[in-house]
Amino acid sequence: MKKICVIGLGYIGLPTTAILALHEYKVIGVDINEKILEKLNKGEIHFTEPFLGNIVKTMVDKEKIMGKTQPEKADVFIIAVPTPCKEDKSCDLTYLISAVKSILPYIEKDNIIIIESTIPPGTTDGIIKSIIEEKTKFKVGHNIYLAHCPERVLPGNIIKEIVENNRIVGGCTRECSQKAANVYRAFVKGEIFVTDAKTAEMSKLMENTFRDVNIALANELVTISNHLQINGLDVISIANKHPRVNIHNPGPGVGGHCLAIDPYFIIEKAPQLSNIISTARKVNSSMPHYILSNVKELMKDIHNPKIAVFGITYKGNVTDIRESPAIEIIKLLENENFKISIYDPHVQGENLNIVSIDEAVEGADMILILAAHDEFKNLNYINLIKTMKNPIIFDTTNIINLKNYDNTHINIKNLGNLFHNSYT
Ligand SMILES: NC(=O)c1ccc[n+]([C@@H]2O[C@H](COP(=O)([O-])OP(=O)(O)OC[C@H]3O[C@@H](n4cnc5c(N)ncnc54)[C@H](O)[C@@H]3O)[C@@H](O)[C@H]2O)c1
Repeated sequence: MKKICVIGLGYIGLPTTAILALHEYKVIGVDINEKILEKLNKGEIHFTEPFLGNIVKTMVDKEKIMGKTQPEKADVFIIAVPTPCKEDKSCDLTYLISAVKSILPYIEKDNIIIIESTIPPGTTDGIIKSIIEEKTKFKVGHNIYLAHCPERVLPGNIIKEIVENNRIVGGCTRECSQKAANVYRAFVKGEIFVTDAKTAEMSKLMENTFRDVNIALANELVTISNHLQINGLDVISIANKHPRVNIHNPGPGVGGHCLAIDPYFIIEKAPQLSNIISTARKVNSSMPHYILSNVKELMKDIHNPKIAVFGITYKGNVTDIRESPAIEIIKLLENENFKISIYDPHVQGENLNIVSIDEAVEGADMILILAAHDEFKNLNYINLIKTMKNPIIFDTTNIINLKNYDNTHINIKNLGNLFHNSYT
């Protein structure tokens, strides 16, 4: 049975560990966080993800997964550690370099090393290859094999997607690509596209950049439409009737650890040429300020207003608040001395001060929806507003169907039609 060392047991590394163990590999899961390892070795997982817990429990019981603080000799090393942004928005490779250095003493002839972390183009074939070749006696493509294989899974659906999604495998040489692709062939049901490392790195970044740019276009569309007193949401729905047009949903900004970060990894490599990508980032990053200015406008005649924020995650129906525009909007509102209460059925955490829906709404002057959780779609808003001081709802996610309400009862502002109503 082949042995794989997976370095980094987070949202990507742990499901990868579980699926590899399920498919005839013995897996050593390595992490610097001992709490994660303690849990793993008891067959427990440290975040919620459907089906993952059961697989991990079974595989740990069968001794096909073992958690360790240090790597050990193996046939394959897969690295899935964080690659956040630095202050200047360039990619912080500290974790990745340290993870690569941690495997060097254990590398043997014919080993395959795969980087799954998201990285700027040129990183695998550049800095990573150099570290390995300088500090070991091996030569990439000759007696060891190095590739980048980015992840595309959607949290909440990882176990299905890790198996069914198409994969890109980009090696430093053709042989590196083929060897790495064979590792994934054991469990991937989607197609495996083999390319070079730089193309694989750029493809991954471009997928998220495509979405960031298109969300920016939708955000710009609603800000222009609001300025011109046009219902931006109507524009989107009508324009999308064109067979080849698909304008995305506008919202309070773009968050999470992928869309809000990955475009910067392209910008850092070609700043002079990344005009649309940089502008899209600016547009999306400005949305929290746009929301703030509109909240201020809507609340301008109200003394000491209280805002009930609904949803603080970076998008609907997830528990993740990393890079969430909602968190930034709350800070901006607090800086302007708004009183804030927070309701989010998907998030727990004492330091976030999340309260029940009734407590959040009581005495509030506005419900400000910042994450499109399904729970917010069909709430009985007519009942809910009874304990509010002012019945204003500002839905920045456009999740409430305005046609269900008439504004004699309740004043609902969607992001796409802030100060005017649709003719229809
Ligand atoms: N989460 C996603 O949905 C997703 C999707 C696609 C790509 N990615 C990329 O995958 C990579 C990993 O992301 P994640 O969400 O799994 O991160 P994560 O923060 O959930 O987990 C990373 C883990 O790596 C560990 N770690 C850090 N340095 C280490 C080291 N030197 N040795 C061993 N362990 C170390 C951390 O303790 C942590 O448990 C990132 O580059 C990310 O951009 C993530």
